[in-house]
Amino acid sequence: MKRIELNAYGIPEDVAACVEVADVGAPDAGEVVFDVIAFPINPADISFCRGGYRIKPPFPATPGAECVGRVSAVGTGVAHVKPGDLVINLQRENWAQKRRVRGDDVIRLPSDVELRQAAMLRINPPTALLLLSDIVDVPKGGWVIQNVANSAVGRLVISIAKGRGLRTVNVMRRADVFDELKALGADVCLLDGPDLAERVKAATGGAAIPLGLDAVSGAATARIAACIADGGTVCTYGAMSGENPQAMSVADLIYRGVTQTGFMLGRFLARRSAAEIEAIYAELCARIMDGTISAPVDHVYEIDDIRAALIRAQEGGRAGKILVAPNGLI
Ligand SMILES: NC(=O)c1ccc[n+]([C@@H]2O[C@H](COP(=O)([O-])OP(=O)(O)OC[C@H]3O[C@@H](n4cnc5c(N)ncnc54)[C@H](OP(=O)(O)O)[C@@H]3O)[C@@H](O)[C@H]2O)c1
Repeated sequence: MKRIELNAYGIPEDVAACVEVADVGAPDAGEVVFDVIAFPINPADISFCRGGYRIKPPFPATPGAECVGRVSAVGTGVAHVKPGDLVINLQRENWAQKRRVRGDDVIRLPSDVELRQAAMLRINPPTALLLLSDIVDVPKGGWVIQNVANSAVGRLVISIAKGRGLRTVNVMRRADVFDELKALGADVCLLDGPDLAERVKAATGGAAIPLGLDAVSGAATARIAACIADGGTVCTYGAMSGENPQAMSVADLIYRGVTQTGFMLGRFLARRSAAEIEAIYAELCARIMDGTISAPVDHVYEIDDIRAALIRAQEGGRAGKILVAPNGLI
């Protein structure tokens, strides 16, 4: 079977190789074996390859925080999934043709869920959901501002916010996607820039915005902070600029009492029981199936084409996510 392995951390397309490895074997008691149908290349996977992610396993290291797969065998004592079932895996190392994992780590999906969306279910949809649930209780009709609004997470935030009756100011670095985001329910779309707070004020009629979501970091964090109402919160959950958040102004921090905080999905899911986590994924899967939430896909690659896939995943201006389908294109 094929698997992506790193033997050094560095430029992703140079350090990631598709190699032939021994089969995963039959499942032991309590284990599940599944064929990986597809996995996305997320920004965190790129950081992992570069050695900049919070976990840095010894070599050979296999990336891959999420995937969708089809169960091929289950060990004794596994009752919640059976061969043929679609599953997502809550553990890592998914850039491979096959996985053998603890049964407790897989969640069964309905058989008719769209496979490309299912491959991207594990991380970005709950991130968008919890960013809107766990940081600030924004009342119905209230506003949220976010940057990287055209990212997968950004689009999910727009759709979930819309469903809750919240309004969104969406900030990004290109204008060609404004119409797409407005079709999803975005109320205001703006280009990021130094006079952002003034433009937000004009576009929202001076609305008080209690929550700002930031995944650019660097100077962009302070720009979002300047748009937040007195006593509001800026939550940084990503760093697409590759920089640490720049300190917000004294006025925003001290005079206006804006709070700066951070979000990591694993940390926020860990506050919940296994049953609650399963319920979150069931709800998000239902939203995928009724078409309420989705993330666009730019291109699907074969596992042998991991180099091209990684190069494309790092290019700006993509039309959506990059997926890899290790057992045949979907
Ligand atoms: N903390 C968590 O638990 C968690 C969970 C999930 C995701 N995230 C973070 O959420 C962010 C979005 O992830 P995703 O999977 O939704 O991304 P994605 O769909 O791959 O999209 C990447 C986005 O980043 C923008 N971008 C790239 N480089 C940029 C730069 N230097 N400055 C400003 N914008 C830039 C792109 O803009 P263009 O379209 O203009 O190229 C695009 O909108 C990432 O930072 C990711 O790490 C965090």
